[in-house]
Amino acid sequence: MHGSGITAVDAQVTGLELPSPPAPGPGQVLVAVEAAGVGPWEDLVRNGFWDVGLRPLAALGVEGAGRVVAVGSGVTGFAVGDPVVAHEAPFPGGSGFWAEQVLLTAAHVALRPAALDPVAAAALPVGGLTARQALDGLALKAGDRLLITGGAGGTGVLLVQLAARAGLHVTATASPTSATGLRGFGASGPRRCSTTTTRAGPSRSVTPSTRRSSPHPAPERPRCGWSVMAAACAR
Ligand SMILES: NC(=O)c1ccc[n+]([C@@H]2O[C@H](COP(=O)([O-])OP(=O)(O)OC[C@H]3O[C@@H](n4cnc5c(N)ncnc54)[C@H](OP(=O)(O)O)[C@@H]3O)[C@@H](O)[C@H]2O)c1
Repeated sequence: MHGSGITAVDAQVTGLELPSPPAPGPGQVLVAVEAAGVGPWEDLVRNGFWDVGLRPLAALGVEGAGRVVAVGSGVTGFAVGDPVVAHEAPFPGGSGFWAEQVLLTAAHVALRPAALDPVAAAALPVGGLTARQALDGLALKAGDRLLITGGAGGTGVLLVQLAARAGLHVTATASPTSATGLRGFGASGPRRCSTTTTRAGPSRSVTPSTRRSSPHPAPERPRCGWSVMAAACAR
């Protein structure tokens, strides 16, 4: 099986010839990968600071889209050929999505609408789940106001849309170049606002222990100048 990943923890990413995953056990599904996500967290997976259960030789990639090729005992709701999308960690097969096939826990897999392109779907799980869980954790109700910083980021654009759909009054910060895109997600009248200027502080140093608990590093590029505030109203 072809894949891309590591031969050992902290090794450089390379093309690999990997063993095929085992047949799915109870509660597992085997998926033929059509597309896999790539994110800033990959290097933390590669060097072992985010332990997702890889057992090198192993493919990287913690999210992706594909089709079910085999279903383990006790799994309901999936059939061979179903289009699916998933985020997995830890991997029951010890290898990730950057390969032709990946073994997954069925509870971590969702059916994918057939019309949803697998390449687009593969980029949704980590950002989408983060946005969904953040919103659920806040337990807001329709009409509440929500400020989303980094509203144009991979997570922010999903959170803006979920929040607007939930009837929240959403204000998002983003750079001016992202304003048009945010408007497309329901923002009305993005404007420069002197009271929301942000400047990058020094990057927080990330120790191995914090990397384990928070695998996604803070943005490191400097930011100066105006932010844009975009008011997105669901109704
Ligand atoms: N499960 C998790 O724990 C989890 C999962 C995903 C993400 N995250 C975290 O959530 C955050 C966003 O992730 P993401 O995937 O959405 O990242 P992303 O796609 O890289 O987006 C980053 C966003 O931050 C903005 N930004 C970058 N540097 C900035 C600065 N110095 N000051 C103000 N804004 C700045 C960008 O603004 P513009 O685009 O407008 O320039 C962009 O909207 C990150 O901290 C990431 O580590 C956590």
